[in-house]
Amino acid sequence: MKNFVYWNPTRIVFGAGSIAQLKRLVPAGVKILLLYGGGSIFKNGVHAQVLEALQGWQLIEFGGIEPNPTYETLMQAVEIIRKENIDFLLAVGGGSVLDGTKFIAAAVPYGEVDPWDILANGARVSAAIPFGSVLTLPATGSEMNSGAVISRKSTQEKRNFSSPFTFPLFSILDPTSTFSLPAKQVRNGIVDTFVHVVEQYLTFPQATPLQDRQAEAILLTLVEQAEAILAEPKEYDAMATFMWSATQALNGVIGCGLVQDWATHTIGHELTAFYGLDHAETLAVIYPALLRHKHESKREKLLQYGERIFGINQGSQVERVEAAIAATEQFFHKIGMPTTLGDYQINPQQAAERIAERMKARNNKIGEHDDILPEDVHQIVLDAG
Ligand code: NZQ
Ligand code: ZN
Repeated sequence: MKNFVYWNPTRIVFGAGSIAQLKRLVPAGVKILLLYGGGSIFKNGVHAQVLEALQGWQLIEFGGIEPNPTYETLMQAVEIIRKENIDFLLAVGGGSVLDGTKFIAAAVPYGEVDPWDILANGARVSAAIPFGSVLTLPATGSEMNSGAVISRKSTQEKRNFSSPFTFPLFSILDPTSTFSLPAKQVRNGIVDTFVHVVEQYLTFPQATPLQDRQAEAILLTLVEQAEAILAEPKEYDAMATFMWSATQALNGVIGCGLVQDWATHTIGHELTAFYGLDHAETLAVIYPALLRHKHESKREKLLQYGERIFGINQGSQVERVEAAIAATEQFFHKIGMPTTLGDYQINPQQAAERIAERMKARNNKIGEHDDILPEDVHQIVLDAG
């Protein structure tokens, strides 16, 4: 197990009716900017609950943060915050609204320099406006981590950053606020959560049996509950379990002391940047192809994963490894998630060339061994055809 520091300052307030807690969580006397997406919060009553809880606060609103939030939109909020002397941000929505808010929070005090620098060049963030969140979509874990992924329309890029200054001060997780989610977003959230876990877990043995069991607990919970969640999205305990699973998958706990993978996310972000696929859709396309490409270096963990998650314990090692990968694909299919580029009418040859070119330009070496080179990425994307 590697040395690690675990620090997570985000207060989680979980459960039905917990949006009313905002009045205790938002610092007294601050001027708030409420940030939201395309308007789902007006239809499901979340916006009304937020306003009800924040009576007496000075509050203005900024809507229109799109899925895969864009630099172009977020910089408009930065302007408003500077002009209106806002001192607290409240993100109300899914991962995109939360991520967008993190970028805005860091961009405002960034000064005269273009804050795209934070994303493109890993420029250091040394301050951020404090913010909290009301989460309405379990998926990204953004509610309890310090990361954000931001897209730039003009250059078709999607880049990420994280900083100790961009943890939410608090996040309110009310499972009833997810009851309005369309099935597609629930499916996306399950797959994103699943892949967050395996990006940390499915590497090579690292003498971390506790972290393995923690990761497996989340995977098993998702596999056991996924169909029920999709069939009955207004079943409180199933949604609560899913919501807490998504938070646990990416709040840093299960990855403590581990060398992690994240190659599927890196490649997937490019598929979104070039072709506009939803984040989770990119993961389900790339992950099986990546596992087959790296089946040798991941063999021991693939055998463990196959046995403990899908009960695969018959056949040769090679057969069991392939059965574990096939079971992963079947799980995605069972919840209605496609696993090939062809399902989206994307030309694999073109996608492989574009993405490998990007990896080359950035000198990217990815995966747990830093051994997935641009030519491997090319092959993985082709194989995902
Ligand atoms: O915009 P509105 O109208 O709110 O509608 C949204 C959006 O259309 C809708 N939605 C959200 N909550 C709803 C709802 N509709 C009905 N009822 C509700 N309760 O769902 C749509 C998708 O929302 P979005 O926020 O884009 O989805 P998600 O939470 O999956 O976030 C995806 C973004 O997060 C990034 C992704 O790359 C992508 O940009 N990620 C962030 C991570 C992080 N910060 O740690 C890690 C992840 O790996 C991921 O990369
Ligand atoms: Zn993800």
